[in-house]
Amino acid sequence: MQETAQTTLAPPVRWSSDIRHQSLCKYFINTGQCPNAPPCRFSHPPIADLPRLRADWVKLRIAQRRLKSHRPDDPTPPDLKYNHSGRAHVFAKWIANTFPHAKHVIDVAGGKGLVGLLVQRNSMLSPDGPTAIPKVTATLVDPRPRGMSNQMRRALDTTKELNEHIQEWFTDPPTYRVLELLRKEGTVVVGMHPDQATEAIVDVAFRFGLPWAVVPCCVFPGLHPERIIDGELVTSTEGLVEWLKRKRVGEVREGYLGFEGRNRVVYWEGPTGTKQESDVIPKNYLNCCLVE
Ligand SMILES: C[S@@+](CC[C@H](N)C(=O)[O-])C[C@H]1O[C@@H](n2cnc3c(N)ncnc32)[C@H](O)[C@@H]1O
Repeated sequence: MQETAQTTLAPPVRWSSDIRHQSLCKYFINTGQCPNAPPCRFSHPPIADLPRLRADWVKLRIAQRRLKSHRPDDPTPPDLKYNHSGRAHVFAKWIANTFPHAKHVIDVAGGKGLVGLLVQRNSMLSPDGPTAIPKVTATLVDPRPRGMSNQMRRALDTTKELNEHIQEWFTDPPTYRVLELLRKEGTVVVGMHPDQATEAIVDVAFRFGLPWAVVPCCVFPGLHPERIIDGELVTSTEGLVEWLKRKRVGEVREGYLGFEGRNRVVYWEGPTGTKQESDVIPKNYLNCCLVE
């Protein structure tokens, strides 16, 4: 017989909000019913307690997820990390701190483009109040049409209009339109969870001698059989971080951003000294390497 909320008897215990040690039946907590009862080997609390226990259950699962994805060398404690919706703010702030001389940021694979928009907006906020002209401009490069989120509407209070969007794939070699962006003074190339664009960002920026930063996420091992480390195909984000670091050992740095989920940032602060663009772009690059 299937046990329902109506047939459940209240157990003689006070159901505390700490649900870890109570061996609760997850079906019963979530639906008020249990396919295994009787006799279910897990506990069924009174129906009146279910809303509170469900809320506790969700909190516990979130805490468990945070703990699971937390790496020992990540300096931000799991419970102090920003959630998903804070990611762009954290990354935008990190970009401003890490590349204080940036004048133009290419936000590759930025989706709606909140990171670039915030970089541009933040650069307009001075202690005396918002300025009309951004000190740093940002360009989004992503083939997806750009949607609008509430966070973007809030950022537009300062910037008034959306930053530039080039609706195309970021490729290696780059297209003509992207090439124009790469040639802007003080350009930094960034990508948060940039999927298939991750390695193109790194390779193109290196070739142009431009600082870059990526927060890798998905790996796509099927698309990259050439990524082999110590005889093993790269299949994890950790492996991809290592793969990127090995492109210039000792120069590529890594850190953590203070949000939950994939939060390892891999970056290069640019060439030391005052290398000119012409030193780093191969002479025949413009003639032979560009894609339409
Ligand atoms: C996982 S979403 C991340 C979006 C956003 N950066 C974020 O963190 O919310 C990946 C994005 O990468 C874009 N993308 C994938 N490959 C790309 C490429 N080669 N060039 C530009 N955008 C790319 C997709 O269109 C998509 O918007």
